[in-house]
Amino acid sequence: MSQHETPLFTGLREHANKNPLQFHIPGHKKGQGMDEEFKNFIGPNALSIDLINITPLDDLHHPKGMIKQAQELAAQAFGADHTFFSVQGTSGAIMTMIMSVVSPGDKILVPRNVHKSIMTAIVFSGATPIFIHPEIDPELGISHGITPDSVEKALNQHPDAKAVLVINPTYFGFAADLKGIVNVAHRFNVPVLVDEAHGVLIHFHDHMPLSAMQAGADMAATSVHKLGGSLTGSSILNVKEGLVSPERIQTILSMMTTTSTSYILLASLDAARRRLATEGYTLIEKTIRLASQTREKINEIPNLYCVGEEKLGTSATFDYDPTKLLISVKDLGITGYEVETWLRKNYNIEVELSDLYNILCLITTADHEKDTMILVEALTKLSKEKSSSKTEEIKSLPVHVPDIPVLALSPRDAFYANTESVPFEESAGRIIAEFVMVYPPGIPIFIPGEIITNENLAYIKENLEAGLPVQGPEDANLNYLKVIQEQVAIR
Ligand SMILES: Cc1ncc(COP(=O)(O)O)c(C=O)c1O
Repeated sequence: MSQHETPLFTGLREHANKNPLQFHIPGHKKGQGMDEEFKNFIGPNALSIDLINITPLDDLHHPKGMIKQAQELAAQAFGADHTFFSVQGTSGAIMTMIMSVVSPGDKILVPRNVHKSIMTAIVFSGATPIFIHPEIDPELGISHGITPDSVEKALNQHPDAKAVLVINPTYFGFAADLKGIVNVAHRFNVPVLVDEAHGVLIHFHDHMPLSAMQAGADMAATSVHKLGGSLTGSSILNVKEGLVSPERIQTILSMMTTTSTSYILLASLDAARRRLATEGYTLIEKTIRLASQTREKINEIPNLYCVGEEKLGTSATFDYDPTKLLISVKDLGITGYEVETWLRKNYNIEVELSDLYNILCLITTADHEKDTMILVEALTKLSKEKSSSKTEEIKSLPVHVPDIPVLALSPRDAFYANTESVPFEESAGRIIAEFVMVYPPGIPIFIPGEIITNENLAYIKENLEAGLPVQGPEDANLNYLKVIQEQVAIR
């Protein structure tokens, strides 16, 4: 089959065009049995392919027909041996990836700044995380990736680890030396799993970081929906054979997935793959050019700094995706959160994210110069307004992270244990049962199962006093922390 074909999308439409008399779910039957206003809003085309795994339409749980063909075309496009479609986001693909290689008690090496789906998979599987500190950028207050050296060190200490997980590229677009990490891990016969949630485009252009499959990684959960043009909630899991088992992956994916898989999401993956494979290079080329021009213009605006290739040069900032505009607003004397609100209120602009020091704007294959010009105009006005009223510098907080506490219980045992709340000040020495994260740089200070230390309590207090968001605990005011109940001996 050619990359110009869309077996799943086309097959669905052909089926819908036959207009079968349906006596199966979904009960709305091409929209006839649903709320009229919603039906008219969504439209007949989408509703006609909101179908279910009846025989002619294949089954994501046992693909043999059009879904299998669509997955094979995706594998070819992404340089994988196998591609599995996910209708449960990259979170679903990540959980499958991890649970297919670890069993209860197994060790997995993970960076400390992982997405919650990774910790969820660790809790579900009963694995023991061995954390690696990512590199921190003190100027931007963000975390980058991990390095081949840190992976080597971790594997020397834990040669029995069952997998290494890497976030590549990061949310902010920085890529580690992934090939170096893969080489190290494969020397130890350990598979490399990549959280490629923010990297669907990198495979399709040579001025982008190496993709997971190009770097020889064993699995990658790649968000087609985030930047690749498929619908929200659709994603893929790419697999290279050798150290991992495609059969096991299919089994776990099936266990983690609804039996009512959305064909609209699946079809959107098939169509997005066609666009990336056939037009991706040209579209990404144009996107990189637009983003680079916009970066240059933003860097002419007083007191703003749009991050670029000058940040490269460490093994955690080995390469970067230039379509991400990470803009440091620290020198305006206001926070990224305030900039986000100002842009919404004054220009109806929504950014991807903001933190204390930065905002992140994504330029995608959907954007045109007229869009980026409005962003530049808005930022110019903001800079004029704020620079003239600037009273004080944003206090530059030293971005450091304290030591990772000792893990006394597996995250799963901590998750299922009986818990109680104790005053924050009296919690040192107890085993925590919840997450505590500090932003920036968004690294967990505690994860369930770790022993609370005075040093880390002091770090949290320091951040709270500085007005930084501390998230995770049930008691948002942090007067209390949830800890594992202690067993008292019975007399
Ligand atoms: C680094 C990272 N990994 C995984 C995910 C999960 O992706 P999804 O929302 O598709 O489940 C996200 C989502 O934002 C993410 O930022």
